[in-house]
Amino acid sequence: MRTPGAEPDPDRLRIQTSRLREDDDGEVRLRPRRLDEFVGQEALKAQLAISIRAAADRGEALDHVLLAGPPGLGKTSLARIVAEELGVPFVPTAGPALERKAEIAAFLTDLEPRSVFFVDEIHRLPRAVEETFYPAMEDGQLPITLGVGAGAKVVTLDIPAFTLIGATTRAGLLTTPLRDRFGIQHRLDHYVPDELAAIVVRSAGVLNVPVHLEGARAIAVRARGTPRVANRLLKRVRDFAEVHADGAIDAQTADAALDLLGVDHEGLDRTDREILSIVCERFGGGPVGLSTLAVAVQEEQDTIEDVYEPYLLQRGFLQRTPRGRCATPHAFRHLGLEPPKDAESLF
Ligand SMILES: Nc1ncnc2c1ncn2[C@@H]1O[C@H](COP(=O)(O)OP(=O)(O)O)[C@@H](O)[C@H]1O
Ligand SMILES: [Mg+2]
Repeated sequence: MRTPGAEPDPDRLRIQTSRLREDDDGEVRLRPRRLDEFVGQEALKAQLAISIRAAADRGEALDHVLLAGPPGLGKTSLARIVAEELGVPFVPTAGPALERKAEIAAFLTDLEPRSVFFVDEIHRLPRAVEETFYPAMEDGQLPITLGVGAGAKVVTLDIPAFTLIGATTRAGLLTTPLRDRFGIQHRLDHYVPDELAAIVVRSAGVLNVPVHLEGARAIAVRARGTPRVANRLLKRVRDFAEVHADGAIDAQTADAALDLLGVDHEGLDRTDREILSIVCERFGGGPVGLSTLAVAVQEEQDTIEDVYEPYLLQRGFLQRTPRGRCATPHAFRHLGLEPPKDAESLF
C-alpha cells in the first residue's frame, strides 16, 4: 500500500499506463509471438520456417518478404514473428509515413544488421520514395543528393543488410519493379472455421475467459474468416456472458450475443447487409459502380474495397464485373428476397 502523501512511484505509473495502452489496443496481448502460436496458413508457415532457418544458419539477413491480403488476417503479426524467430530488432513504419528520402535514409542507416524493417500499407508509398528503396533492397546502398542546384552532389551511403517486410491489402497497386524485389511473396487467405475456433480458444485462454469448444465454434463461423474479427466478437460475447450468464461461453450464449450484435449466421454485419440490400433493392441487383455504392452506404471507397468486399466476394454474395458490382441470387435469398428472373442466367 502507498503511504498517503508519498510521491507516486514512477515505475509503477509506467507499468499502469502501459497496461492501459494494452487494454485499449487489446490486440497486443492476443497477438501470437512465435510461428507455432500462429494458427493456420500452414503452407506459408512451412515455407517461412525454412527461409528463416536457412538465413539464420548462414548468418545472413532474410530475403525481403511481401505479405498481401485483407485486413486482420495476420500480416503485422507474422512480420513481428519473423523478427522474433530471427532474433533481430523489429522496426515498424507505414507507407504513408515515409514522405521524404531523408526519412528513409535516417531509418535505414540506423538499422542494426539483419533487422526487420516493416512497412505497412506499402502500396501507399510515394513513388519517388519507392525508387529509393530499389538500390537499398538490392545492393545495400542508398544514393542521396546533398545540396541543391549546380552545387548538388550525390553521395552513396552504405546501409547494413536488412529484411524489408512489406504488408499490403492491395498487391495489385504495387509497381512491378517493387514487387519483383521481394524474394519471398505470400498471400494470406481467409481462415476456415476450425482455425478460427482454435484462435478463439487461444485468445480466451489469454483473456482468462472460460469457453466451451461449441461456443468457440459458434463465434468462429460468424467471424468472416478473419482472426481480428474473431477476437473482437469473443470480447463482446464475453461481456454478454458476464452479464446474462455465468461468464462461461457456450454455444447458446455465443449465439444469443451475436444475434444481439447483429452478426448473422453467415458472419455478415449490418454494413455488409446494407451493401447487399442497396445493390439488390435500390439497383435491382446491379451492376453498381464502386463510387456510387460508397455514397449510398456512406463509407469510404477504400473501406468497402478492403474490408467489406473481399468477404462478400469470397462467399459468393457479390461479383465484380467490368461494369460494376452485381449481387448474386445467393445475396437476394440471404436478404429474404426473390432473385430477379434473369439473375440465374447471369451467373
Ligand atoms: N494466424 C493467427 N493466429 C492467431 N491469431 C491471429 C492470427 N492472425 C491474426 N491473429 C490475431 O488477429 C489480430 C490482427 O492481426 P494482424 O496481424 O494485425 O492483421 P493484419 O496486419 O493482417 O491486419 C492479431 O492481433 C492477432 O491477435
Ligand atoms: Mg496490420
